[in-house]
Amino acid sequence: MSTIKYQKIDPNNSNDPIDKKLYKYLINDFRKGYIEVTDKKYVFTQYYTEFIEKIENFEVYDTDIFVMSHPKTGTTWTQEMVWCIGNNLDVSDEYLYLRFPWLEGTTQFDLRDASNALPSFFYNEFFTNSLEYVRKKPHPRFIKTQLPWDLLPRQIRTGERKPKIIYVYRNPKDTCVSFYHHYVNIKSFGGDFNDFVELFLNGRYSFGPYPAQILSVFQEKHRNNVLILKYEEMKRDLNAVIQEVCKFLNKNYSEADLVKLQKHLSFEAMKTNKAVNFDLLFGEGKFMRAGIVAKKHDN
Ligand code: A3P
Repeated sequence: MSTIKYQKIDPNNSNDPIDKKLYKYLINDFRKGYIEVTDKKYVFTQYYTEFIEKIENFEVYDTDIFVMSHPKTGTTWTQEMVWCIGNNLDVSDEYLYLRFPWLEGTTQFDLRDASNALPSFFYNEFFTNSLEYVRKKPHPRFIKTQLPWDLLPRQIRTGERKPKIIYVYRNPKDTCVSFYHHYVNIKSFGGDFNDFVELFLNGRYSFGPYPAQILSVFQEKHRNNVLILKYEEMKRDLNAVIQEVCKFLNKNYSEADLVKLQKHLSFEAMKTNKAVNFDLLFGEGKFMRAGIVAKKHDN
């Protein structure tokens, strides 16, 4: 039995205008309701309750490599970097979401009574049963997760298994702007930018609140299987971050090869690399939106 406590967020029994907005703007065919989890009030889709226990009990291996993040903080960029470093700098044209799948992805897409209008891409196992899809990947497995530390598989939390975990975070203002555009692109948000900022600041969206997630990971940064990266640092000095990740993954490459890797990971190269974009979901060229650290935040 899972010991993780959660409760339904019920806008009808709440006078909180933010919860009413959550239900007004962030409900759709595949997200029918929300819950808050633990006393940190992490927000998840109602569907997640069907997977809490399976995620807690998910078998992890010391050889697994996780990229962990909050949505829109440079996850995909970090995944591609980690994939290349972990695979002899093999630039793969297989879709990233297949070779580096999202552990809890399924919890975000309750497709059981979604209309048939959804693209067929959604009906693959990495969406319909991501835990099973990840379980079957060849080892070493490369796994994305956006769960906070306290909701990771138990073996990671207790230290019984020590997969490598690379966490990336980004300043919350750019994260919020990026997230808003993300929802607009996938036609999953009914409000305007100000509504979105309000929900983001109150942590009332799937995977919120962001500060609680960051703290949950920083509390674990003493572990030698955890490496924390920052989006802004990747922008400022990608080479230094690549070196740090190589060291963490015990990999050695020539300088010339690392220069090639840097080019492969540049925003311009990633924008046109079909394997790391989600064109079927977002529309062509839309996922890699701006890729900047904004100086000014007037959207
Ligand atoms: P913007 O929407 O601000 O452009 P995630 O992968 O976590 O969803 O994060 C997506 C964000 O990372 C997007 O931010 C995207 O443009 C940015 N990103 C992806 N690859 C990048 C790269 N090579 N350089 C800079 N930013 C990148």
